[in-house]
Amino acid sequence: MAGILLHLPNLITISIILIFLAATTPSIGADHHHEFEGKPINRKLIGLKKEKLSHFRFYWHDILSGNNPTAVQVVPPASNTSATAFGLINMIDDPLTLAPNLTSKMVGRAQGFYASASQQDLGLLMVMNFAFSEGKYNGSTLTVLGRNSVFTPVREMPVIGGSGLFRFARGYVQAKTHTVDLTTGDACIEYNVYVMHY
Ligand SMILES: *[C@@H]1O[C@H](CO)[C@@H](O)[C@H](O)[C@H]1NC(C)=O
Ligand SMILES: *[C@@H]1O[C@H](CO)[C@@H](O)[C@H](O)[C@H]1NC(C)=O
Ligand SMILES: *[C@@H]1O[C@H](CO)[C@@H](O)[C@H](O)[C@H]1NC(C)=O
Repeated sequence: MAGILLHLPNLITISIILIFLAATTPSIGADHHHEFEGKPINRKLIGLKKEKLSHFRFYWHDILSGNNPTAVQVVPPASNTSATAFGLINMIDDPLTLAPNLTSKMVGRAQGFYASASQQDLGLLMVMNFAFSEGKYNGSTLTVLGRNSVFTPVREMPVIGGSGLFRFARGYVQAKTHTVDLTTGDACIEYNVYVMHY
């Protein structure tokens, strides 16, 4: 008790200083240069022209066999008894070519992973960037995130964004199995991409 009384004058001094500081500090709302707020700009300022719809077709090669696989298991299934390999994750760096033949012109790579996300049927969660390397698209990317029920003839997945020539991209892909080797799992898939971009 005596100790608190001893400190009382100090406390009063500190309180007075704090009140003085509060009265002289400008309020944050008045400081316009440090406000966090989006400013409207003209789209031409960042080189955006008219929005257009484009269609691309290429073939996606998922190679699990051999000495140079392009798809590698990074997480095993959660249980060995799961018929759908639920929990499995394969990391991919799959070539994209203009024709089904792997030796045809490569236009980019599909980089990302797919995961077995369904316990009832074979439904993959696909998370991948199409990193293009051909012509004016070299360096531009499209991002696909969606559900791939691999035994359905045509699987549709959303294109959720892009970079470079595909800034502000949105659209969808349709994936159709061209060939699949059920022993090795190697697959060639036809991708038709429909994308809105500038
Ligand atoms: C699955 O089987 C493999 C090989 O037989 C074994 O090493 C692994 O521990 C098993 N995993 C589970 C989750 O049971
Ligand atoms: C793929 O292309 C190579 C050379 O370009 C050719 O030798 C081969 O026969 C082709 N394969 C198929 C299945 O068309
Ligand atoms: C794509 O761009 C990279 C990096 O700028 C360059 O090294 C490469 O040669 C280009 N490829 C093509 C096919 O233009």
